[in-house]
Order: sequence, then structure tokens, then C-alpha cells
Amino acid sequence: MTTVLVTGASGLIGGHLCKRLSEEGYSVRVLGRSTSAVSPYEQFTWNVRDNVMDENAVKNVDYIVHLAGANISEGRWNESRKAEIVQSRVNSAKLLFDTVKNTDTKLKAFISSSAIGYYGAQTSETIFDEGHGPSTDFIGEVCKQWEEAAQHFEAVDMRTVMIRTGVVLTPQNGPLAKMVMPVKLGVGSGLGKGSQHLPWIHIEDLCNIYLKAIQDDAMNGPYNGVAPEHITNLDFTKTIGKVIGKKVWMPNVPSFVLKLLFGEMAVIFLEGSRVSSKKIEKAGLKFTHPTAHAALENLLK
Ligand SMILES: NC(=O)c1ccc[n+]([C@@H]2O[C@H](COP(=O)([O-])OP(=O)(O)OC[C@H]3O[C@@H](n4cnc5c(N)ncnc54)[C@H](OP(=O)(O)O)[C@@H]3O)[C@@H](O)[C@H]2O)c1
Repeated sequence: MTTVLVTGASGLIGGHLCKRLSEEGYSVRVLGRSTSAVSPYEQFTWNVRDNVMDENAVKNVDYIVHLAGANISEGRWNESRKAEIVQSRVNSAKLLFDTVKNTDTKLKAFISSSAIGYYGAQTSETIFDEGHGPSTDFIGEVCKQWEEAAQHFEAVDMRTVMIRTGVVLTPQNGPLAKMVMPVKLGVGSGLGKGSQHLPWIHIEDLCNIYLKAIQDDAMNGPYNGVAPEHITNLDFTKTIGKVIGKKVWMPNVPSFVLKLLFGEMAVIFLEGSRVSSKKIEKAGLKFTHPTAHAALENLLK
């Protein structure tokens, strides 16, 4: 049986992905900061801060999917939170690499999450594809270091794939639930100018990308994990309204309010450019939910 080790498996994406891998017949192992009495998977633990992990986690593993990382949109970005955001992704990837090396594990591929933040929190006319370089802002720097840490595997000839993920839409919890709530209450509105783009992806399509990254030996390097349709923040909010039968009529939330509420982190809501899905489509991925309307109908009805 093909064995996949997933880090950060208790999170939003990990929960869906592990279930899907299991349904597809993979043997799923999870590596986290603690164990759970109700997890259906074989569990192992690590402590990234102390640079220790249970070596047994990687023994006879075929693939690692690295999703772990301190949540970017929780807590204010003070210096210690920023350090946690970086280290939980970068030091964890290095710890995985050292453990794979020390145990002489022959991985078929190392697949890491990354984020569209790689291209920076900016609103521009550019449609970003995988050939564009990293931004020098905080999130751009996080993603650059995160991908460089994953590339340690590539340097020793293990296939390495990075998924630069957009906002992930799931049926419960996560970013979508936070966007739907004000619309339901009749106070939904665009954020800031509202004309910034919101690259997004339905969780089912994202799981399909991870599955493809496992199964397709031709996949290598970075791929944007975003839906093909480009949509602005305001149009996305209006589409939520249409799908749940609520009118979006409130004026946009001014930028300064978001900056007061979230500090530096407000850029992730206030800025956004279009991101291209062409590379993953060329690799053969067919999106199940290519438009925001279709995705929201599926998730909210
Ligand atoms: N959701 C999105 O819209 C989105 C968009 C772009 C990129 N991503 C990236 O995709 C990855 C998974 O996203 P997600 O939404 O599933 O994230 P999530 O719900 O926040 O879960 C991340 C998991 O990482 C582990 N973790 C948290 N803090 C950690 C720390 N300090 N050290 C080590 N592990 C830690 C936790 O797993 P344990 O408790 O089991 O250890 C947690 O459940 C993240 O790296 C995220 O940045 C997500």
C-alpha cells in the first residue's frame, strides 16, 4: 500500500486531504504537535521549536505532504508571531529533510504547501504565473523561505512540488465561513477598494491537485493552486449574496478600519492580483468548480 505522511493534518486543508487520500486507498500517517483520541490515522508527533520528531513517522513512507504552519490570519503580526509563522514552516521542512536523510528514507516525492502570497500582497494589472519571482514583503519572504526549505529535497533528486495556494473554500469553517457571516446578517460588503482580486480554490479541486502531485511523476516545482476564474473582492462578496439570497448593499469597509483591526496583516484582505491556473491545467488538471458561482452553489446550498 502506498503510504503518505501528512503534516498539519489537523488543519482545514489537512482534514479534507487525509480523508480523500484514505478514500483513494492510500495508507495515511499524520505528524502533528499532539495526538488525538479520535483520529482514524496512524499518528506521530514532533516539536518543531525544539527540532525533535519521531523518526518512525518517515520510515517506509512513499510521499510527504507538508501542510504545517502557524495560521497566517490569526493574531497580530508582531515580531514573535512573525517568527512563529516562518519557523513553523521552514524549520519544520528542514527537520523533515534531516529525518528523511538520517533514516535513509527513499521518498517518491515531497509535496509542500506554499501560498499565492509568494507574489506579494499587491494589487496590480499583472497576472502572476509560476515564472514570476517572490515579493520582498513579509508574506513573500515567508513563501520564498518555505519553498527554499522544500527544495532541499530537490537538491538530493527527490521530486519536489510546491502548491502556491489561494484562499481555500470549504463547506464549514475557514475563510469562507468568515465571509458568509456578515452577508447572512445583511452587513456584507467589499473590503477597502473592493477592486483587489481574490484568488480562490474549492477544497475539492485543491485535494485533486495534491492527489495529482502524488500520482503524476511529471509534476515538479511550483504550481499555482487557484481556480481559473479571476474575481474581485467585491464581486466575490456579491456572488455570496446571490447564492444565499441576500443583497449586498453596504458601503465597503474602509481600509483604515481593517488596518486598525488587523495591523500589518490587513494587507492580505486589502490587496490582491490575478494569479494564473494555466500551468496546473496544462499538466492535465480539470477543475470541478472553475467559477466562484459554481463553487459557492456547491458549498453553500
Ligand atoms: N486555508 C487557506 O486558505 C490557505 C491558503 C494558502 C495557503 N495555505 C497554507 O496551507 C497550509 C495548511 O493550511 P490550513 O488552512 O489547513 O491551515 P490550518 O488550518 O491553520 O492548519 C495548519 C496546521 O499546522 C499545524 N501547526 C499550527 N501551528 C504550528 C506550529 N507553530 N508549529 C508546527 N505546526 C503547526 C497544526 O497542526 P497540528 O496541530 O496537527 O500540529 C495546524 O492544524 C498552511 O501552511 C497554510 O499557510 C492555506
